[in-house]
Amino acid sequence: MSDSSKATVIGAAPEGANDSAAAGRAVREMFTSIAPRYDLLNHVLSFNVDRWWWWKTARSFASVLKRPDARVLDLCCGTGDMTFALRRQAGKSWARILGVDFSHAMLQRANGKAVGTSLNFVEADALCLPFPDEQFDLITAAFGFRNLADYDAGLREMVRLLRVDGECGILDFGEPGGLMGKLYRIYFRRVLPAIGTLISGVRGPYAYLPASVERFPSPQEMLGRMRRAGFREASWTPYTFGIAGLYRGKK
Ligand SMILES: C[S@@+](CC[C@H](N)C(=O)[O-])C[C@H]1O[C@@H](n2cnc3c(N)ncnc32)[C@H](O)[C@@H]1O
Repeated sequence: MSDSSKATVIGAAPEGANDSAAAGRAVREMFTSIAPRYDLLNHVLSFNVDRWWWWKTARSFASVLKRPDARVLDLCCGTGDMTFALRRQAGKSWARILGVDFSHAMLQRANGKAVGTSLNFVEADALCLPFPDEQFDLITAAFGFRNLADYDAGLREMVRLLRVDGECGILDFGEPGGLMGKLYRIYFRRVLPAIGTLISGVRGPYAYLPASVERFPSPQEMLGRMRRAGFREASWTPYTFGIAGLYRGKK
């Protein structure tokens, strides 16, 4: 890779990581370190609104999920809450739903919670997935896409794996505007890192979270990236004043 193409890579950049490989390793270590407290912290720090965001995202894809032959991939699934929301939305359909994450510790939790369900989890990197082309009807990523070391490579990998007319749904944090945005920024930059650090006992991840959201492309830029990667009908729907939002696109 030439120096100029390296400079154009946009993705997560945890402190101290100088290239994509180092960023990926740092992100994996970070999530592994907070895995034991991840679910608790998620619910506490979001006042349980996270459950509603996962449900709303899954519901947006109900028509795909109800198809008996649907194949669904949930990227960056972590402890599996988005994957479970997809399964619940699929109801009695035979849709095959697979969660993927590169943190073994996060997947151990997901597997523990999945006992008695038909869900499967695979340990793999979302930038280089061990599946042949055009396998899936739906690919989701909840609060994980922002952590990829190369956003364009992540989108290209999704396009590769989707069948024609397959859909993607990327749920991630945003930055609300107006007065709500000001209040939210105080919470997100000051209160959340303090509580996160206290409960998890680890400082880095909860300082990284607001920094990663600030670095993340604006909805307009993200939609442009999705179109360039090969998605049509790209759209963004804000959730809860834009604190989070769902990007959708069709192959
Ligand atoms: C904030 S958590 C989100 C987990 C879950 N989707 C949720 O909504 O709670 C982000 C997850 O993305 C995973 N992740 C980040 N980069 C990844 C990559 N390149 N490949 C696979 N998983 C990745 C992390 O290990 C972590 O479990």
